[in-house]
Amino acid sequence: MDIKEVEGLTAQALSELAGAADGTALEGLRVKYLGRNGLLPALMQGLKDVPAADKPALGLALNRFKTDVTAAVKERKAALEAGTRPALEAGFDYSLPGRWPRQGRLHPITQLIDRTSAIFRRMGFVVADGPDIETEYYNFDALNTPPDHVSRDLGDTFYLPGGLLLRTQTSAVQARYMEQRQPPVRIVCPGRCYRRDTTDATHSANFHQIEGLYVDAKVSLADLKSDIDHFARELMGPAVKSRFRAHFFPFTEPSVEVDFSCHMCGGTGCRVCKQSGWIEIMGAGMVDPNVFQMAGYDPENVTGYAFGMGIERLAMILFGIDDIRRLYENDVRYLAQF
Ligand code: DAH
Repeated sequence: MDIKEVEGLTAQALSELAGAADGTALEGLRVKYLGRNGLLPALMQGLKDVPAADKPALGLALNRFKTDVTAAVKERKAALEAGTRPALEAGFDYSLPGRWPRQGRLHPITQLIDRTSAIFRRMGFVVADGPDIETEYYNFDALNTPPDHVSRDLGDTFYLPGGLLLRTQTSAVQARYMEQRQPPVRIVCPGRCYRRDTTDATHSANFHQIEGLYVDAKVSLADLKSDIDHFARELMGPAVKSRFRAHFFPFTEPSVEVDFSCHMCGGTGCRVCKQSGWIEIMGAGMVDPNVFQMAGYDPENVTGYAFGMGIERLAMILFGIDDIRRLYENDVRYLAQF
């Protein structure tokens, strides 16, 4: 054994250590070179057989072997650990819980359109729709609305050039649908409506309605009452009742306004129902014979009921939303509650 040999072994050990692929390989090399039955103790043993004159230099070389190899093991170990968690070194902790992407959900208006449509679909209604840009005929004339009716006022309706307008009510879809199909008809039509309303907590120039129309040989006010009662329970809860109040609409006779008993207080009076126990939900009635006639139906052979209600209003009542504008601000933090 001479110095050259020890230096060669040192170089070899250092190069193997630098290439250790993982902790297990590294530990194997440590044992191989520094372990109790490893190379270093064997070389130390051999020291006693060398000539006395060579001992000091060779002893120094072996000491260097030990310190260099020990240092290399430590260095490689640190490098391997840093390699498995590199960002920890850069001040980033991979073990922290992740940030979940926000899960999207349906807008309250969409939710209410879906819920109301689904209830009526289960009762045999199909979903129909019509254009937002309507003719004056379908929005008014075909619905038996006299030429001087207030709802036609320039201050109430957005008129467009060419006898067109932005529909003020989904009732326009009734007239279109009946022109195209023969009875029996059972449809609901959700959609946007437009009115020249000044925006405040309960009004918006653009809002949504859902319309219903049922026409057959013997549809009665009792059918309207029982179907609306069923709808009230499905939408608001099993204890909710409905009541009719006499009203007027050009396209129905008789016409009613429908209230639901307050789902919050059960009818005893609270903030939601303004202490009355009842909440106004929709307009409805028996389709006027004139409307049938204009659609080409024979009022002697068919009867029908129709209803229409505001979707925003339903959303506000069900979700306790106090200002209609919140439905259009699209503040995701607010909408995410529903
Ligand atoms: N279109 C009416 C409105 O916008 C609501 C309505 C009332 C619709 C009675 C109907 C109905 O179909 O029969 O106020």
